[in-house]
Amino acid sequence: MALSLVPEHVAPLEKAHDRKSFDCGNEELNRYLREQARQDAAKRVAAPFVFTQPGRPAVLGFYTLSSSIIPVAELPPVLMKQLPRYGQLSVTLLGRLAVDRSVSGQGLGEFLLVDALRRSLEAVQQIAAMAVIVEAKDQRAESFYRHFDFRPFQQTPLRLFLPMGQIAKLFA
Ligand SMILES: CC(C)(COP(=O)(O)OP(=O)(O)OC[C@H]1O[C@@H](n2cnc3c(N)ncnc32)[C@H](O)[C@@H]1OP(=O)(O)O)[C@@H](O)C(=O)NCCC(=O)NCCS
Repeated sequence: MALSLVPEHVAPLEKAHDRKSFDCGNEELNRYLREQARQDAAKRVAAPFVFTQPGRPAVLGFYTLSSSIIPVAELPPVLMKQLPRYGQLSVTLLGRLAVDRSVSGQGLGEFLLVDALRRSLEAVQQIAAMAVIVEAKDQRAESFYRHFDFRPFQQTPLRLFLPMGQIAKLFA
């Protein structure tokens, strides 16, 4: 299927979106979308966004955003030196991101990542966050995020971050 990758095709998850057939190859993420994402949205625990094509309710990709905090001490020393000594700092958590296998390798993962970064940047005008962080599920996911310049935390290498200043430059 040839994809039309425009921001208008990304929307907050709603009941009408068809999540049953979604398969990204990771059963935990599939189950999350099927069984948990709507509840997380309703309870404001996370904001799930889904990608669909016009006239088709099937979800082809999704990601979630929420607020989080990180201990400053886990950041690389170079970055730590530039920051106030608050102990903990606010960040935006890109908790999950996945693409249906039927459309993998067509740029949708990158498109959704950029969409999530743009949305996170827009949000900091209202509520500050000094970075976007991700929890990579495995080495493959970790290498996907590293491909886009995310850097690992010192103690938890499957947790990666991209400073908001760097994200702002992407959209400048
Ligand atoms: C990881 C995932 C989101 C990639 O989606 P995709 O649509 O197939 O990826 P794209 O086609 O957008 O790839 C964009 C770029 O990332 C690269 N890339 C894709 N997967 C990669 C990986 N695992 N490691 C390194 N680079 C990767 C591609 O080569 C491409 O690079 P290029 O533009 O320089 O050629 C998808 O495979 C997926 O949903 N996996 C299962 C769920 C998962 O692991 N999610 C992430 C953690 S929650």
